[in-house]
Amino acid sequence: MSARFVFAVTQAGAERALKNEIAREHPDLRFAFSRPGFVTFRAAKEIVVGRELELRSVFARTWGYSIGKLGGDDAIALARDAWRFIGAEVPGTPFPHVHVWQRERPLPGDEGFDGAADELARTIGALLVGQGPEAAASAAVNAEAAAGDLVLDCVLVEPHEWWLGWHRAASPETRWPGGVPPLAIPVPRVSRAYLKIAEALQWSEIPISAGDRCVEIGSAPGGSCLALLERGLNVTGIDPAEMDPAVLAHANFTHVRSRAKDVKRSVFRDCRWLLMDANVAPGYTLDTLDGVLTQGGARPEGLVLTLKLTDPALAEKLPGIADRLRRYGYRRVRMRQLAFNRQEVCAVVSERT
Ligand SMILES: C[S@@+](CC[C@H](N)C(=O)[O-])C[C@H]1O[C@@H](n2cnc3c(N)ncnc32)[C@H](O)[C@@H]1O
Repeated sequence: MSARFVFAVTQAGAERALKNEIAREHPDLRFAFSRPGFVTFRAAKEIVVGRELELRSVFARTWGYSIGKLGGDDAIALARDAWRFIGAEVPGTPFPHVHVWQRERPLPGDEGFDGAADELARTIGALLVGQGPEAAASAAVNAEAAAGDLVLDCVLVEPHEWWLGWHRAASPETRWPGGVPPLAIPVPRVSRAYLKIAEALQWSEIPISAGDRCVEIGSAPGGSCLALLERGLNVTGIDPAEMDPAVLAHANFTHVRSRAKDVKRSVFRDCRWLLMDANVAPGYTLDTLDGVLTQGGARPEGLVLTLKLTDPALAEKLPGIADRLRRYGYRRVRMRQLAFNRQEVCAVVSERT
């Protein structure tokens, strides 16, 4: 089997950043088509579909092979046509999973970020399965795939314009429908950062364990601390602002009510994981880390950082920031604009040298 086109899902507004990094990292892929949240690329030569496709990209939430679009007002007819199309393009391929999503997803915290889009996607997914061949009848709709599973992708670029594609699930983001992990914020809600850290941990698969000590710089009001406490970690939060009472009351939580540069070195002693989620420019985040990791003497096993893209041009600076993070003594730096990020990206630094 071979493919000619690749699609990538991104946060609406991040298309340019995505195109620039694909041009840099995958010069064999040429930009083809773009709408907010959805971009396709044409391969310079036929891609032999032997191993999993892997995009080296911060801004691609997930990706796959694109096989083209269908349009029309009658959803049942579209679903039927979709299978004819799929049968012609990827003949004889059984798909245990169907992932359907709308290309432009409201950002966390914005109006409309309430699952209504997910409802429409699930309805169309059920329609696709219902109109498919017998082998498709048991396909799961918008469920998390396992590594190795084949997934049929259907992107609702417009309500009546469906773009079809497929991929083999591998890394965590390729197992989630549209690259969005199936997470819900607990009630009562402390902060959106609960979802950010939950996604960062699932995506990066860093080996956190119950009982680990971690420190978060920029911890208030405490959504991410709550997610870490729920996983059994001992958490110290550094922030001059107030923590949520539910977090403060937790037996395994300590609040150091201060700016990071003013805290004693001992706060970082035996810290296995260092997190930073301060609402500051990346330069300030790195300067703060300098203080903690070089003068402060902390040697955490891994870092989980929020890098705020205070200026869109900062996207171009991410490779340089990754180099700087590696120089703290780590082999692996991965970055991703999480589905639960807004104008920010997540960096996970691991494998100490
Ligand atoms: C996006 S909020 C953090 C959200 C938090 N991680 C959560 O889970 O709710 C950013 C926080 O960074 C804090 N902050 C900014 N500069 C800081 C610094 N130098 N040291 C510690 N905290 C800082 C702010 O007070 C603010 O509470």
